[in-house]
Amino acid sequence: MTSSFSTPEPAAPTHISGSVPVKIAVVNGSPSIPSKTGALAHEIVERLSNKLPVDVRFIAVNDLVPFFSDSYGDPSSPIATALATIADADFLIAASPIYKGSYTGLFKHVFDLLPPSALADKPVLLVATGGTERHTLALEHQFRPLFGFFQADTLPITIYGHDSEFENYKVVSAELDKRIDRAVLRALPFLSADLREASLYPSI
Ligand SMILES: Cc1cc2nc3c(=O)[nH]c(=O)nc-3n(C[C@H](O)[C@H](O)[C@H](O)COP(=O)(O)O)c2cc1C
Repeated sequence: MTSSFSTPEPAAPTHISGSVPVKIAVVNGSPSIPSKTGALAHEIVERLSNKLPVDVRFIAVNDLVPFFSDSYGDPSSPIATALATIADADFLIAASPIYKGSYTGLFKHVFDLLPPSALADKPVLLVATGGTERHTLALEHQFRPLFGFFQADTLPITIYGHDSEFENYKVVSAELDKRIDRAVLRALPFLSADLREASLYPSI
């Protein structure tokens, strides 16, 4: 019997057709290479790409570090390209390792450089990895308010993975695997007008 308090599971669509790919920007706030956060973000994007056509741009903040002291107004700087990619995306995956109970300083620095209106009404999936599961709620009390400042449309669902759910920078946890699948299905209505109109969710 299904409890009336359980979260309704969306029906799983196969592949959504359509010729215009959804532009997805992924920001990984990790200074490390390789990165578990990056591995998790790639896994999410891989599963989204099985559901609908996507055009994905990955932004590793680590790659931007040498350019942070450049003139921010220089349109040829990789920083300007990264900021334009974020602003232009249909969907943002904002991913960072947890450092001292929050996103990394590098992650914040990228968003510090964005104009305040750049993310207005943009759907954003919040993603984090941490050493333990104890900092899961940092997504709610650290990440979500930052995107509240930008008036972004953060998805109610988030994804958090912890160190023991990865091996060799691959997701090995069946539980994390399920959480990714659930978040991807819940993200689809934010990405496709067709799915927005024909609600995926059964009435409760
Ligand atoms: C400087 C530093 C601070 C960290 N602080 C936390 C923390 O507060 N809470 C936590 O759960 N993990 C913390 N960790 C662990 C990382 O969040 C975790 O290993 C993460 O998966 C690393 O992601 P990455 O491989 O993408 O860099 C910290 C790691 C470092 C290096």
